[in-house]
Amino acid sequence: MTLRFPVTAEDYRNRARRRLPRFLFDYLDGGATDEQTLRANASDWHHLTLRQRVLVDVDQVDTSSQLLGETCAMPVVLAPIGLAGMMARRGEVQAARSAENAGVPFTLSTVGICSVEEVRTAVNRAIWFQLYMLRDRDRIEALLDKAWAAGCRTLVFTVDLPRPGMRHRDARNGLSSPSVRAKTLKIIHLLSRPRWLWDVALRGGPLNFGNLSDVMPGANDLDAIKTWIDSQFDPTVTWDDIAWLRQRWQGRLMLKGILDADDARQAVDCGSDGIVVSNHGGRQLDGVASGAGKLPDIVTAVHGKTAILVDGGIRSGVDIFRALALGAQGVMIGRPWAWALAAGGETGLNNLLTGLQQELRMAMTLTGVIRINDIGPDQLDQTGEKQ
Ligand code: FNR
Repeated sequence: MTLRFPVTAEDYRNRARRRLPRFLFDYLDGGATDEQTLRANASDWHHLTLRQRVLVDVDQVDTSSQLLGETCAMPVVLAPIGLAGMMARRGEVQAARSAENAGVPFTLSTVGICSVEEVRTAVNRAIWFQLYMLRDRDRIEALLDKAWAAGCRTLVFTVDLPRPGMRHRDARNGLSSPSVRAKTLKIIHLLSRPRWLWDVALRGGPLNFGNLSDVMPGANDLDAIKTWIDSQFDPTVTWDDIAWLRQRWQGRLMLKGILDADDARQAVDCGSDGIVVSNHGGRQLDGVASGAGKLPDIVTAVHGKTAILVDGGIRSGVDIFRALALGAQGVMIGRPWAWALAAGGETGLNNLLTGLQQELRMAMTLTGVIRINDIGPDQLDQTGEKQ
């Protein structure tokens, strides 16, 4: 037990590590192969130095902004995280409540534990829905209808996962193997974290994807889920499918996982309302550039033609500010919210989000900008960049 309050994303990460069974913490924390891109995602933001400005009236700093036509208390969206519901009891419900409390959108993953109906009925604010393309297009149509009926008006279609990336931590923990040895390893991990078992007991029922429960009745452990994903996710998806989706979905459409200026232009041509510049949190191809590294190119290519969000390695309010200074309209955060949820449930996540907003406000105050829309390249210190 520790008597200190968690404050930063890293504090919540450390708590989550103590609380979750190892295979689950590693599933959340890890990235593809050598994890170089995972590390670059966070460290590349740090190379951007800010300009301190003084003697500006900063009495009324306002972090609120418009994202995809929605008013947000700050330009932050909780990114879709598959299986987030395992980090705490009815995890996605708790997270959506926190997001509502903080005045920011919550994105529910296709492969969330709680269904879109369950999450939606727990909050007043409309949630965003993330879609992975499945081979079964009837199933996709049914999912879109379900999301629409539950009040979702922003669809985040993820395009950077034709197949799940290779994550060595998961392999070492036996997550991709149904062998008896691998199962034993997971049981040992579970027994090493008894508090987590209470939550499982309280939650009850088999492990399930709420949005897909009718098509995957046998999925009562992570191996079954992995096998199902490998067989159902559709690697044949192309831009033609985006055109189909655009015409099928009446709400706002975001493409998540754009990391190249040419793809960004094509996303605009396909009529997407926004893009998320993302490498899936460094979980797909190790060796690709970070979000911070690619954002300037993409902003140059499509600025003003579509909304641009960025994610990957955003860990503080200062990082949020840096992303806006590079030209993003907002950011998504992934692991930090799931760490906070695992560490302290809804309250933990409330505290994390409050802290991010305070840090963002402080960064605005000390750079002398009072509105989100006024943050831009002017706030970056081109002379003082770190090497
Ligand atoms: C993800 N991400 C993700 N993205 C998505 O579109 N659908 C999903 O189901 C998931 N699942 C998922 C699980 C886990 C454990 C992680 C860590 C990430 C990617 C996520 O939405 C986001 O792009 C990254 O997490 C952003 O990077 P940071 O903030 O985690 O560094």
